[in-house]
Amino acid sequence: MINYGLGGKTAVVTGGASGIGLACAHALARSGAAVSVWDLNGDAAEEAASALRTHGHRTHSAAVDVGDSAAVDAAMDTVVREFGRVHIVVGNAGIGGEQASSGDYSDSGWRAVINVNLNGVFYTQRAAIRAMRTAGGGTIINMASILGQVGFMNASAYVAAKHGVVGMTQAAAWEHAADGVRINAVGPGFIRTPLVEQSLDDDALAFLKSQHAFQRLGEPQEVAEIVAWLASDAASFVTGAYYPVDGGYLAR
Ligand code: NAI
Repeated sequence: MINYGLGGKTAVVTGGASGIGLACAHALARSGAAVSVWDLNGDAAEEAASALRTHGHRTHSAAVDVGDSAAVDAAMDTVVREFGRVHIVVGNAGIGGEQASSGDYSDSGWRAVINVNLNGVFYTQRAAIRAMRTAGGGTIINMASILGQVGFMNASAYVAAKHGVVGMTQAAAWEHAADGVRINAVGPGFIRTPLVEQSLDDDALAFLKSQHAFQRLGEPQEVAEIVAWLASDAASFVTGAYYPVDGGYLAR
């Protein structure tokens, strides 16, 4: 694993207790960052943070629902108070949500997905920008998806939210470049995490694998690697970009 030289920096990872977020927390910590793990599941967030602490990393955890903007603002204030400032924020928390065709999608299903996967990323990004621009800058990485570029059946809310995350990232990157804030999006293909494994049967998993050139799902660490790079000064000229980590899914 490459060390991206994040010593002295503080990172926040939302949805950091599981899957891709957990892998990001580990990758950032391994490169030297202090990591604040936020998750709806506060116990799981603390478990993730304490596992990192046993490896000597400085960590913090918080129970945060990213769909609640006041909770996001309060948690960001806490991190700034405890660590002095925040340099890296990964807006990763997300849910799969209702699976239904657009004609059958429910109001509550639509609102639930949009509130976490789009509003939640916006609230996190906004709190990050406010904390960073007064402190000399920072970097934000928003977790989009291949489904921020193309459609997918029976997931209209998820697809809409992820397209929204990509657009929002591009707009904010221009707005806040002068503040020294770099903002990018990462677009994983299907990754082997609880979100995917718990919602799909064997046939569906086999189909999804076949949609990637490598004929397999990705691993959370394979996404975390590009997040750590984007968080580092090695990516100093990168902003407003969308990076697929998708085993070739979009290349066909
Ligand atoms: P996961 O289900 O393993 O982890 C998601 C974490 O987010 C969980 O710990 C959960 O408690 C937390 N969470 C859910 N709602 C929350 C809320 N309102 N506030 C705070 N935390 C909340 O999921 P996975 O697969 O690691 O997904 C992470 C991100 O990556 C999501 O944004 C997802 O849309 C995205 N993604 C995942 C892909 C995959 O194939 N697994 C593919 C493309 C994107």
